[in-house]
Amino acid sequence: MSETTEDNIQVLFKSAPDGLPTEDNFEIKHTPIPSIGEGQFLLRNLYLSLDPYQRMLMGGGWTYSGGDLKPGDLMVGRVLGEVIESKNPDYPLGTYCVGRLGWQTHAVSDGSNLDFTVPRDSKIPLSAYMGAAGSTGVTAWVGLKITGQMKPSDTVLISAAAGAVGSAAGQIAKANGCKVIGIAGGPAKCKIVTDVFGFDACVDYKAPDLTGQIKAAAPDGIDLYFDNVGGDVLSAALANMNKGGRIPLCGVLAAYNAEGEPPTVANMGKIFDKSLRIEGFVQTQYKDRWDEARAELIDLIQSGKLAYRETIADGIDAAPSAFIGMLQGANVGKQLVQLA
Ligand SMILES: NC(=O)c1ccc[n+]([C@@H]2O[C@H](COP(=O)([O-])OP(=O)(O)OC[C@H]3O[C@@H](n4cnc5c(N)ncnc54)[C@H](OP(=O)(O)O)[C@@H]3O)[C@@H](O)[C@H]2O)c1
Repeated sequence: MSETTEDNIQVLFKSAPDGLPTEDNFEIKHTPIPSIGEGQFLLRNLYLSLDPYQRMLMGGGWTYSGGDLKPGDLMVGRVLGEVIESKNPDYPLGTYCVGRLGWQTHAVSDGSNLDFTVPRDSKIPLSAYMGAAGSTGVTAWVGLKITGQMKPSDTVLISAAAGAVGSAAGQIAKANGCKVIGIAGGPAKCKIVTDVFGFDACVDYKAPDLTGQIKAAAPDGIDLYFDNVGGDVLSAALANMNKGGRIPLCGVLAAYNAEGEPPTVANMGKIFDKSLRIEGFVQTQYKDRWDEARAELIDLIQSGKLAYRETIADGIDAAPSAFIGMLQGANVGKQLVQLA
């Protein structure tokens, strides 16, 4: 972990990667801790959330967001911070805040750029608000409940199932009475998906015949496929969908680091043949439902129905390597960086 320091340590975007990022695409910069004005407060950040969308913002190769960052920009990302100085009575010392304030050890806010503050009487660990009880869990909740129109009778298939969103989605679906099958990379991750996260089965997309593996795990077909990946994994899911099935598109992991053309999808004919509904979503579309979603997620965590795992890197300097590792599957559950 980084020592307490007089500096604000930031990770800046330096250059666009071609394919998988390298540490050379980032720059670590020390700057003075900012001072606060009237109505503002200073956060000492405790956790940074690393997320695949940050790869898209870096551009290079194929990226659907077009690469929003410019060299020298602060890397975009959510942090959880503690108020350590305040000139805003609504944010007294000791308040814990979550917001997209960037990859840095300290940040100034006036409250307007925050997602939420952690309830003072919270009974779950702080880090959970960066994952299962934060935007990760909310993403899973939105994709299943709003976009996916989940029903208790559904057989649900979920890709990147050992990851943060996927592991939460599977357990939310189980808690709602569904049969749940995961897709993950390798036997060790598949075992975590069944034994730790309680999915009914898990298939390995790195082993041969994913289409056949899904069919064996769900002989009666899939009603809802929560897609985190796209490409070949989506193609295999499409081949197994039941009539009237729903596919909330949450992300395109197969494409984020692809060099050249993005991966294509086969079995598109199934969309009309089986009258499928495919709909992309971004959880920020549903800010009006965040409180409801978080309340439900906290209940699930407290009642033991939503187990979460974290992979935590140590110190801001480790953020680039942890990010690169996550993009290659080095994480189980939520990838965080502990900053203090
Ligand atoms: N729509 C929204 O609002 C929203 C919000 C948050 C996240 N997301 C999306 O949700 C998805 C999951 O995000 P997360 O934060 O929970 O990350 P995560 O799943 O915890 O971490 C990424 C995982 O992706 C898997 N992966 C990497 N490359 C892959 C590939 N080519 N094919 C299949 N799997 C691959 C790896 O697991 P394996 O070892 O199993 O390969 C890795 O552990 C991402 O697509 C992300 O963009 C969307």
